[in-house]
Amino acid sequence: MTAVIPAPTFSLLPIAPLACVVGADVEVPLVTGEMVRYANLDYAASAPALTSVAETIAGALDQYASVHRGAGHLSQVTTQRYEAARETVREFVRGRVDDSVVFTRNTTDAINLAAHITPGDVVVLDIEHHANLLPWCTPRDGRSRVRVVRARDTVDDTIATLEEELASAPAALLAVTAASNVTGEVLPIGRLASTAHRHGARILVDAAQLVAHHPVSIVSHAIDYLAFSGHKTYAPFGAGVLIGRPDWFDAAPPYLAGGGASADVAVGAASATWHTGAARHEAGSPNVLGAVSIAAACAALTAIGWEELGAHEAALRARLDAGLASVVGVRPLRIFGDDAPNRVGIAGFVVDGVAPRVVAEYLSDHHGIGVRDGKFCAHPLLKRLGHPDGAVRATFGAGTSSADIDRLIAALAELTTAVLRPVKGPS
Ligand SMILES: Cc1ncc(COP(=O)(O)O)c(C=O)c1O
Repeated sequence: MTAVIPAPTFSLLPIAPLACVVGADVEVPLVTGEMVRYANLDYAASAPALTSVAETIAGALDQYASVHRGAGHLSQVTTQRYEAARETVREFVRGRVDDSVVFTRNTTDAINLAAHITPGDVVVLDIEHHANLLPWCTPRDGRSRVRVVRARDTVDDTIATLEEELASAPAALLAVTAASNVTGEVLPIGRLASTAHRHGARILVDAAQLVAHHPVSIVSHAIDYLAFSGHKTYAPFGAGVLIGRPDWFDAAPPYLAGGGASADVAVGAASATWHTGAARHEAGSPNVLGAVSIAAACAALTAIGWEELGAHEAALRARLDAGLASVVGVRPLRIFGDDAPNRVGIAGFVVDGVAPRVVAEYLSDHHGIGVRDGKFCAHPLLKRLGHPDGAVRATFGAGTSSADIDRLIAALAELTTAVLRPVKGPS
């Protein structure tokens, strides 16, 4: 991606949430029985719904009826909402007019669909979320079709290694993450797309951790396929998206066979005539509310504006990074050493001498802070970072305030002080 994430500047001035999210004031119990406001620093796992998204869903529920299946007024309204959602998504990620926009369950489902339609070998990096590794690992025609490339210490060297791999043997697709779910580091998608295209491959971008935080342009970056999830984009209603060039979608057998995907079925016949376009892969009644919620989130993020979102997240990230650096015994995780790529609001770290689960439980039980711990469905990456047993991850977004970040840093300082200088009892 082009470097539009503003350079972080660190200030101690309070930073208010940029957008209203559902549950912002929810209180949770501490071990002491005291109730405190929940500090949600787990946006990368699942972000809370934007209030405006929840309001849109309440309105859509009022008029909810079948989709693509009825002549009744509300069926028409619901069908129109569902189809309009595709156009909002296309516009949000600056898709091509002829791109197919297929609603899926989530990013995992979207990449499984991509694996289903991809006609040849796939090259991936070893830093990927399992959603962008495992779908490619299923053998096809009795042979493996995935080639896993080890990311190097710098982005430049990694791209050079991918270039060598793509030159060494033909591949249909390069499938890469846009932003690491462990470190938040953002990859230069435009450069990766050029690399793939130079060798006759297409590119699929796993944008699960990017689209809610950074503008994406399928056209400008020459992206062929892009996948993301509603629940990481402030729209937690069970839908995701795969958008991309229509020819592979139309050439592949339906992802799900059933009503809605079929144009004509003869009684007793073993085969059917299938639709082309998105309908081919969306058999059964689709998740209308999920699709509508994604469209509402896309519209809300566009209305807030990327400049404001970028500035908000850059300020929080600078505060979080500076805070983590100030706590003795806390070690941030990074894939790329030298050229410090842009990052989204994700900070993976370990605490010397304290297991990740213990850190996460301490933050929750004693401070009402929610973070993720574990291996983040990225086992190969955690192993190569030297933390096969996992790490801790604090992540944030439009509903986060500096108070949440400050609470985390104070809690970590308290924890590490207790670990490094345990209070001695009477000998
Ligand atoms: C980079 C990345 N890709 C894919 C996924 C899978 O997303 P989902 O669980 O919505 O299918 C995740 C989830 O954390 C992710 O971070």
